[in-house]
Amino acid sequence: MHPLYITTPIYYVNAKPHIGHAYTTIVCDIFVRFNRMFGRDVFFSTGTDEHGKKIEQSANNAGIEPQLFTDNISQLFKDLLPVLNITNDDFIRTTELRHKNAVTHFWSRLKESGHIYLGEYSGWYDIRNEAYFSEDELVDGRSPLGGNVHYMTEECYFFKLSEFQDKLLNFYEQNPDFIFPMQRRNEVLSFVKRGLNDLAISRTTFSWGIPVPNDPKHVIYVWLDALTNYLTLNGYPDVDQANNERWQNVIHFVGKEIVRFHAVYWPAFLMAADLPPPRQIVSHGWWLSEGEKMSKSVGNVQDPIKYCKLFGSDALRYFLLRELSFGEDGNFSLAGFIGRYNAVLANAYGNLCSRVFSFVLKNCDGSVKRPPTLTGDDQLFVAAVDSELRESVSLFQRYAFSKYLEHLEHAMSLANQYMDSQKPWALRTSDRDRMEEALFWMVEQIYKITRLFYPVIPICAEKVFNQLGIAMNDAMSLSGAVPDEFHIREIETLFPRIDQFSDDFDVFSDD
Ligand code: MSP
Repeated sequence: MHPLYITTPIYYVNAKPHIGHAYTTIVCDIFVRFNRMFGRDVFFSTGTDEHGKKIEQSANNAGIEPQLFTDNISQLFKDLLPVLNITNDDFIRTTELRHKNAVTHFWSRLKESGHIYLGEYSGWYDIRNEAYFSEDELVDGRSPLGGNVHYMTEECYFFKLSEFQDKLLNFYEQNPDFIFPMQRRNEVLSFVKRGLNDLAISRTTFSWGIPVPNDPKHVIYVWLDALTNYLTLNGYPDVDQANNERWQNVIHFVGKEIVRFHAVYWPAFLMAADLPPPRQIVSHGWWLSEGEKMSKSVGNVQDPIKYCKLFGSDALRYFLLRELSFGEDGNFSLAGFIGRYNAVLANAYGNLCSRVFSFVLKNCDGSVKRPPTLTGDDQLFVAAVDSELRESVSLFQRYAFSKYLEHLEHAMSLANQYMDSQKPWALRTSDRDRMEEALFWMVEQIYKITRLFYPVIPICAEKVFNQLGIAMNDAMSLSGAVPDEFHIREIETLFPRIDQFSDDFDVFSDD
């Protein structure tokens, strides 16, 4: 199996992280854990994007030096990772020396290979999104990304993007799954087919950035700087990327608004530097908060830390993955969160574990053994669960994360129904052997469901494996067979029901 290299976008440090940022990171982490569980070697990176006019302005507004300003906010993004239970291997800041070296080297490669020239640029500049737009791209006087624009002219270096139209179209054709989902692929194709203008890749109107080699009054365009983080993290320029397995299998997870940068500019830059384009760009939709775009001025910015403190990171990870159909937009609300938490984590899953495990603990001394044969109702039950689990894996592999969870939930319902229909409490006096058989299959199905649920709820999954007397590592090696015996230990409530009128929720209205 070839290794994988999974990246989150690197986050702008102009404000503290919110649920939208937590989402990209959590989706990546779940994807990474899932692949590692299947034995794949995965390198997982995240970090912060710290240069550019927007950051310089935010620092000025706060009356702090940009470096100190970025130090503070970058730390907030870093501190969020353990709170969300993220298993990244590296964290990059674009203000680090290793990154400045990589960007400078990358620029020089592009220059030497004749893809950069000096010219003059005029256009409508969107500060918030650090991008220029032409008159006809503006929407109601704003940039197509929604930011305020003003007209600017500056001397700047250009990247000969116009030369890459055919190369990119060829590349998309030869790699039909380069952009996921299809809708984003279609948007990119029609954007490139309309023709590409050369891209302004340096700025002279501010200084918070990496200087252009040999012309330091220019700083390098923040997107060229930021995209290069993916190379820096893989040891560029010391490591030869052209022959590097990890680089050949890099997947960038991004929000839908930054697909163009990753699927058009980035492969073009890489081709120009004689390096392979990434393997795939996987894009997700946006979270609205209580029905509206999250913004400080509306006061509806959702803080991931509060949710983790109150309900645990597993619950937040579960809700984010389940609620939003991957690729589409979705709505974040406290009521929606509590609804799903109670229905699935507390009732369907938590209750299933506790009723089955405590019954086994009380009535079978905690132990169940694999029966010699699998027949009758048990066979139908196990086959039905297996079919849900197979479907859930296949959906996961196709990035249909919410549907993957839906099928795990079907499997939980099947197990709950089996407990109801088999009535082990009645068999206890009438047919103990039969009771023990049925219970084994129930415990085994819970175990299998939990293994596939692990990437989303790792803390709880570990507790369940502990309750079942199985070491986490053994449970996680999917090559290992399912155990023939389970020895249930003490029972712990996994997800206590949330009382939606609790005073605890006052924390959600205090800022
Ligand atoms: N710095 C650039 C990325 C450079 S990558 C070389 C950037 N940063 S960002 O902080 O604005 O966004 C980072 C990620 O957070 C993006 O994937 C973006 O889609 C995601 N989200 C920010 N707000 C979001 C929501 N409200 N909902 C879902 N994700 C959103 O772009």
